[in-house]
Amino acid sequence: ELSFNMGSLSVDEIEAAVRMLLSLKLLYKTTTGQDYQAGLPPRDLVLINNGTSKEEDEDFVDPWTVQTSNAKGVDYDKLIVRFGSSKIDTDLINRIERATGQKPHRFLRRGIFFSHRDMDQILDAYENKKSFYLYTGRGPSSQAMHVGHLIPFIFTKWLQEVFDVPLVVQLTDDEKYLWKDLTIEKSYEYARENAKDIIACGFDINKTFIFSDLDYLGTSTGFYKNIVKVQKHVTFNQVKGIFGFTDSDCIGKISFPAIQAAPSFSSSFPQIFNGKENIQCLIPCAIDQDPYFRMTRDVAPRIGQPKPALLHSVFFPALQGAQTKMSASDPNSSIFLTDTPKQIKTKINKHAFSGGRDTIEEHRKYGGNCDVDVSFMYLTFFLEDDDRLEQLKQAYTSGELLTGELKKVLIETLQPLIAAHQERRKQVTDEMVKQFMTPRKLAFEF
Ligand code: TYM
Repeated sequence: ELSFNMGSLSVDEIEAAVRMLLSLKLLYKTTTGQDYQAGLPPRDLVLINNGTSKEEDEDFVDPWTVQTSNAKGVDYDKLIVRFGSSKIDTDLINRIERATGQKPHRFLRRGIFFSHRDMDQILDAYENKKSFYLYTGRGPSSQAMHVGHLIPFIFTKWLQEVFDVPLVVQLTDDEKYLWKDLTIEKSYEYARENAKDIIACGFDINKTFIFSDLDYLGTSTGFYKNIVKVQKHVTFNQVKGIFGFTDSDCIGKISFPAIQAAPSFSSSFPQIFNGKENIQCLIPCAIDQDPYFRMTRDVAPRIGQPKPALLHSVFFPALQGAQTKMSASDPNSSIFLTDTPKQIKTKINKHAFSGGRDTIEEHRKYGGNCDVDVSFMYLTFFLEDDDRLEQLKQAYTSGELLTGELKKVLIETLQPLIAAHQERRKQVTDEMVKQFMTPRKLAFEF
């Protein structure tokens, strides 16, 4: 706080104070992305630096980087505080169970979907018979999707089933062309290939619209109008703060966030929502995508649209451990949806980071550490049976179960799951992809 007795100040002192105020205003703008207005707290966009911190052991999470120095993975509780979202607690899970009459998905029971924004509002609306829609997406950077990419889709499929609502899936082929060393034709092609994997998750063709940006943007005035509205309300300074863009990033990147924001507004899909503007949107995604939607939620009221609600998941870790990132270019960093049973077995046996001890004797004596053991982490995502998971945890922690035995359980869990996915993907024809990707009315009246 600054206070001056103007009468006793020299011109120099006043000028110095003015310079200081101007530099504080500039600091405010670079930190919050907003112009300083006396007496007004910063809007929704409180945290725009994704938690970049001076402390070296802090985690970093944005759409391109997920970094932590902790073998247990990112500290998600801290992330909730830094991002300003809310924890998915037992009360919320119980409420979802009451509203849907269904046992909560294992991703909810196990804290894999751990954070949300405004899910209570979605439930309020739902309990008052007001519908909403789901929106999620994929950036088609390669043909090969890994199991981590499936997490939001598996959960979205469950949400679509238990709430019986429309779903829109954005394939950001434009984003991948802008960011990666890819031709526009390739990213357009990958969008269709990835659509097959998404369809293979079991989405209902009558309730789901999948679109590629390169296709849909040119055909939908509703979508483009929303993009332009968002573009008008976000400054370069703000996206620099949120996404770390610099002066040498191409202008395509700088304006892209508006394209990922726009499907959060029902008026981007007049064919589905009968032109209605105010249908609430719920976005399931991993927490890395949150910066896009913090921006969207900040803009929404200023363009007269409801803020989208969100459900965030943790990251499915790389085989080498929760500090490393899975990468499509490193086949050994993850299990891919195209892997054969033999590849799955070899990768897990060879590369899955173990929380076990160096020798059998030590392991029997001291037990293994489930908190850093990748095979155990993978089982928490994919083993449906809660009791079995708990038994495995106890047996591994006590030393009764060896790493090789735990890995065997994981291999036997993943092999049939991936094989079944491949089987379903084989059944997806080009004609089906075309149908899913045709702008049309879905099986809902609005
Ligand atoms: P992309 O293709 O990087 O990721 C697709 C979805 O998968 C999530 N994800 C993960 N989830 C768990 N564990 C992991 N290791 C993991 N890696 C990725 C992502 O959070 C995402 O939900 N720009 C987006 C595409 C997009 C989108 C959206 C995503 C457009 N609109 C709306 C979510 C919601 C992208 O490149 O996602």
